[in-house]
Amino acid sequence: MSTRLPRLHELASLSAVVAIAAATVAAGQLFARASAGRPRVASDETLREPSVISSRNGVLRVALNAAPSIIDVAGKRARAEVYDGSYLPPTLRVRPGDEMRIRLVNALDEPTNLHTHGLSVSPRGTSDDIFLRVAPGQAQEYDIRLPASQSPGLYWYHPHSHGNSDEQVRNGMSGALIVDGLLDPFPALRNVHERLLLLKDIQIDGGRVAHLGIGKQSVRTIDGQMNPTIVMRPGETQLWRIGNIGADLYYELSLDGHPFFVVARDGHRLARVERADTLVLSPGARAEVLVQGGAPGTYVLRTGDIDTGPAGNTYRGATLATLRVEGAPEHPIALPTDLLPVEDLRPRVTGRRTIVFSESRDGNSFFIDGKAFDMSRTDQRVKLGTVEEWTIRNQADERHSFHIHQTPFQVAEINGVAQPADGYRDIVDVPIGGEVKVVIPFTDPNIVGRFVFHCHILSHEDRGMMATIEVDP
Ligand code: C2O
Ligand code: CU
Ligand code: CU
Repeated sequence: MSTRLPRLHELASLSAVVAIAAATVAAGQLFARASAGRPRVASDETLREPSVISSRNGVLRVALNAAPSIIDVAGKRARAEVYDGSYLPPTLRVRPGDEMRIRLVNALDEPTNLHTHGLSVSPRGTSDDIFLRVAPGQAQEYDIRLPASQSPGLYWYHPHSHGNSDEQVRNGMSGALIVDGLLDPFPALRNVHERLLLLKDIQIDGGRVAHLGIGKQSVRTIDGQMNPTIVMRPGETQLWRIGNIGADLYYELSLDGHPFFVVARDGHRLARVERADTLVLSPGARAEVLVQGGAPGTYVLRTGDIDTGPAGNTYRGATLATLRVEGAPEHPIALPTDLLPVEDLRPRVTGRRTIVFSESRDGNSFFIDGKAFDMSRTDQRVKLGTVEEWTIRNQADERHSFHIHQTPFQVAEINGVAQPADGYRDIVDVPIGGEVKVVIPFTDPNIVGRFVFHCHILSHEDRGMMATIEVDP
């Protein structure tokens, strides 16, 4: 970058004003970065993260206004249903034990509501109750109390009004929720620079958000931008919190020349740092990874081609971002191999059940245990204190995923292959014609009440692939 920034004494002259304008354009976002208060070196970075709202003295207060708005996304303007007029609503940052007071205002012409995906909070009252329905023109105050035991990491929020979830999330109604403290126990990692990379996809046609079919002409964005540039120093270690907060698409991420060192999945720390060259993120899944800058140069963060099966969808990969490694080298910190032990829940299993995912021949109706979702029916009942092993069977000709509210689970087996007890998740992919065994602890008194489990491909969920569960005290 050869552009010279104007010196202070030049600012008075008209030519300097022109110079500033030229420098701003040429040097990318130099000034914008400075005004955003990031004390990092001037660079070619163009990635912009969403704004952040943090809790104070244990309470987070925020209003989210859901309304049709004109948004700018990936260089286009479109009319979309979004929160606060923005494709990327604020990131909510809390600590374990905090309380969130969220006022949701519905200025849409259809019902909506709010789900805090992954939090082990109460499903009752005005907490994370997806059976609440906020009618058009109405507002709802949510009061959500995180347990002190909430695992620190990346979660997200999105609407969960049955029949509208897919459309509203496809429009942009999804944001990040970070529970602070992920790297606190590890002094060497505590101060690494952190980034939030939110994966969202959108279809725009004629100035509107369109529904062209899963993956068809979808624009893949990171933090609402197409191919932003991320800058790192050689040897620098960063924490990338990556969330697939789109409605229906899978991502298969790889970063040229740089492995990912996975420290957490779905907001839950792994027992060991896991090296991965590709990261598969089903819709709704998150991964928190360490990345260490390699040799100076330019590298592509991409997502690969996806094929979800004969009855599913195929879509091409895409470039998501460009990593530029430049500047003064840093001595790379030694990454730990072990993090903190994670309890293996298998010895505690008290009961078992089997859940079957299937769909109609025409591919338009989706079922759990042969039935389409009915929110007035209670499909599963469990007792508080039990730990259950569920076998999730996929009888369809396409991939589905299993997600349950209010509690994470341990993935014990995939198609008969035992999995290491190295962490918990809240979403797992269920292979075509295959099965997955998960161990679910229904042990936190917080989660007493009624909630749901479902496939997190939201068009499947909206078309029936969801069921209810009640945890009784
Ligand atoms: Cu992202 Cu029912 O959940
Ligand atoms: Cu959820
Ligand atoms: Cu599905």
